[in-house]
Amino acid sequence: MARAVAVMTLVVPIVAGGAISNRDDAPVFSPQRVNIPLGFGAAGQYVMPVNMATGDNTQNFNFTLAMNSGLTYVAGQGCSTCSNIALYDQSRSTTAQALNANATTNFLTDTSSGPVIKETCSIQTSNGSNWVYPNQTVVVIQNQQANGFGQLLGGFTGVSGIVGLGTNLNSQPSSSGGGFQAAFADSIYGQWLNRNPTASNFSFGMALSPPAVRRNNGSTVPSDAAGTNAGVLNWMQPDSSMYKGDQITFKPVDNSANGGAAGNSGSPPSNAPSSEWSLSLDGWVFADGDNRISNTRSVVADVEALYTELYFPQDQATLLHAAIKGSSLQPNLGSLGPTISRAWTIPCDAQFSFGFVVGSQTFTLDHNSLVIRESDGTCVSAIEAWADPNQTKYLLGSSFISSIYLLTVMERKSSALRHSPTHLRSHLTLVPS
Ligand SMILES: *[C@@H]1O[C@H](CO)[C@@H](O)[C@H](O)[C@H]1NC(C)=O
Ligand SMILES: *[C@@H]1O[C@H](CO)[C@@H](O)[C@H](O)[C@H]1NC(C)=O
Ligand SMILES: *[C@@H]1O[C@H](CO)[C@@H](O)[C@H](O)[C@H]1NC(C)=O
Ligand SMILES: *[C@@H]1O[C@H](CO)[C@@H](O)[C@H](O)[C@H]1NC(C)=O
Ligand SMILES: *[C@@H]1O[C@H](CO)[C@@H](O)[C@H](O)[C@H]1NC(C)=O
Ligand SMILES: *[C@@H]1O[C@H](CO)[C@@H](O)[C@H](O)[C@H]1NC(C)=O
Ligand SMILES: *[C@@H]1O[C@H](CO)[C@@H](O)[C@H](O)[C@H]1NC(C)=O
Repeated sequence: MARAVAVMTLVVPIVAGGAISNRDDAPVFSPQRVNIPLGFGAAGQYVMPVNMATGDNTQNFNFTLAMNSGLTYVAGQGCSTCSNIALYDQSRSTTAQALNANATTNFLTDTSSGPVIKETCSIQTSNGSNWVYPNQTVVVIQNQQANGFGQLLGGFTGVSGIVGLGTNLNSQPSSSGGGFQAAFADSIYGQWLNRNPTASNFSFGMALSPPAVRRNNGSTVPSDAAGTNAGVLNWMQPDSSMYKGDQITFKPVDNSANGGAAGNSGSPPSNAPSSEWSLSLDGWVFADGDNRISNTRSVVADVEALYTELYFPQDQATLLHAAIKGSSLQPNLGSLGPTISRAWTIPCDAQFSFGFVVGSQTFTLDHNSLVIRESDGTCVSAIEAWADPNQTKYLLGSSFISSIYLLTVMERKSSALRHSPTHLRSHLTLVPS
């Protein structure tokens, strides 16, 4: 299959803490690629080993990753709703600094809250050494509450925290308990760009393996998949062998889109922590044999690796499944719980395909990623509907992300290397693989 690239661009003014100074003649710093291998956690989450604190006080955890928050989260000592996992003990750290603020984060399926600290964290890379990210803003979770199926952390998941891969650009003030307002400087990229004033950008590529299990109430990965290769983050330098640079189309991100995930309240996905991975796509095409349905209206979609399926507005999901012979709506089968999403059972030999249109290109998923065989032998569609009939936004989980090479560049605009205020340009590249 021909590989094509679509680059989403986003230009956002950053209120920087200080001017970024750079001599005109200073060489641009070009970091070496670091590969961060991902494994599947017990509940099918994409996980990586993360350490907190340093030296003899280092504490080891498995964290999952989230696209729509730019903070790091860890279950803290005293979190009574974070059972069966390694908990972070701040009193054993000499590098932790309290920030005198509390944060409440509404993930789609989970509400978490706790005090905010600064801590030295590190992520284990493929050659066994750690990539250190100091002065990271971390929420030490004291309480988490599931809104749909299951908690993000603890229980049988084995996951102790979350590495936020967002920028906090659209983050809203925390609704309660200290009202922490996350900023770009609280993200991994903001800190890295501050530490590396001669770097022009922070970029990474993400190649996820397809989800090992459909998320559901208590679903666990098959034992042969647990801990195996779930993909890789090509950190600081994307891997250019993963895509063809000569087939790039540019597409701006519509970050003013309404009905989005930027709020701290409202129905899913509006209650996601922030909505910075929001893309405006040019429509979609569905095909089942000779039966074709297309939507040429613009589609606003969030990309999020915390969830596995594709979540559509009710009317659109209903229209598609009406074209699949033998499909049947199951209000209690939604992968996020019946209050958030609904799913359809479909015949296991269904052959439909679905593609998102971006400019002149179509990113197509076929039945291999859209028809999910459950352990009882029945099959479920990977396209689900929001339980809320008023939700008009799409959310694309790891079934979609694993079909592309996701490449992002958070670029300091060149003038901003010398002048304040700083601007950030962020590209999100979708590469069919
Ligand atoms: C990002 O920085 C790298 C150097 O590490 C440079 O080669 C690349 O051109 C930059 N990309 C953009 C879009 O500025
Ligand atoms: C992280 O997960 C791996 C693979 O499942 C496991 O071997 C390891 O013990 C876990 N680490 C921690 C700190 O829980
Ligand atoms: C692993 O890779 C990093 C970055 O390329 C390098 O600095 C480090 O020395 C390597 N560590 C080992 C143990 O090879
Ligand atoms: C954070 O929450 C704790 C526990 O509810 C409370 O004691 C503390 O005063 C709060 N801190 C701030 C800055 O609001
Ligand atoms: C730590 O981060 C904050 C912003 O969150 C910044 O103001 C401060 O200068 C940073 N400190 C160091 C030592 O980098
Ligand atoms: C999920 O499963 C558990 C254990 O079987 C059950 O107690 C709980 O009610 C279920 N949750 C939902 C939302 O169905
Ligand atoms: C959907 O929106 C309509 C009109 O604003 C409102 O009356 C209705 O209660 C909403 N439905 C839900 C389930 O929120």
